[in-house]
Amino acid sequence: MKLENKVVLLTGASSGIGYAIGKAFAKEGAVVYAMARRMEKLEGLKEDSKDLPGEIIPVAGDVVKEEDIDNAVEKALEEQGKIDVLVNNAGVLDEYKSAETITDEIWNKVMDINAGGIMRMSRKVLPSMLEKKAGVILNTASVGGLHGMRGGLAYVASKHAVVGMTKNIGYSYADEGIRCIAVAPGSVSTEIGSSVKDPDERMLNKLMAGVQIFPKVGTPDQLAEVYVFLASDEASFINGTTIVVDGGWTAY
Ligand SMILES: NC(=O)c1ccc[n+]([C@@H]2O[C@H](COP(=O)([O-])OP(=O)(O)OC[C@H]3O[C@@H](n4cnc5c(N)ncnc54)[C@H](O)[C@@H]3O)[C@@H](O)[C@H]2O)c1
Repeated sequence: MKLENKVVLLTGASSGIGYAIGKAFAKEGAVVYAMARRMEKLEGLKEDSKDLPGEIIPVAGDVVKEEDIDNAVEKALEEQGKIDVLVNNAGVLDEYKSAETITDEIWNKVMDINAGGIMRMSRKVLPSMLEKKAGVILNTASVGGLHGMRGGLAYVASKHAVVGMTKNIGYSYADEGIRCIAVAPGSVSTEIGSSVKDPDERMLNKLMAGVQIFPKVGTPDQLAEVYVFLASDEASFINGTTIVVDGGWTAY
């Protein structure tokens, strides 16, 4: 097992890519503190993983609330004495608004969850990793963190921030045994798109042009296997970079 005895804190675990990461990590023997706002979905993940060698421990929490983050991190540290791997996966789409229709409300929400969540989670977990001189932080970015036309203005800006934070954290702590890596998924079949209710026409037209050149849509399980590898000791020389997992979409 690639993650035996590893203690993991995973955000956005209630659906999609995060749910698949939880299961894949439990299959490899990890104890996973699965954090999300919907406790009933986390209980489903726990039930779904009960025959696997690892364990899922649900923790209710929102990545924009400091007290929820404190609670999740302190619970894992009190019960296990360490957090080996932090997976910052929680994220939301914007309403596909362009630069002339973006509102402060959408901008603030998307930046606060997608970028602020990673900053707050990492800030809270890093001291315990520094004490052990070991740790891995995996951030879910997007091909929208590397290219301009894979979301609206706020989503693309927030995911570029994820790629930037990954480089900053990866480089800052490299000589203290800590690695930080981002994963940039292409199009993956999850429920994330259902949140877009009122897209901006300009943005939608531009995005649709990109959709026409999709080689294929991926599954959450295809992503989860990559996170397993990056979290494992087999990836010990990968740090401060972004791994694109998009079936070839951005090769076009
Ligand atoms: N599906 C794709 O095509 C795709 C492509 C590129 C990147 N991503 C990224 O993958 C990650 C997972 O998305 P997904 O596609 O699995 O969609 P999803 O909607 O199924 O999962 C997102 C998860 O984040 C959680 N979340 C949202 N806001 C939160 C908050 N404030 N606090 C805690 N949890 C919160 C949701 O509850 C959910 O569990 C996101 O960061 C997303 O931006 C997805």
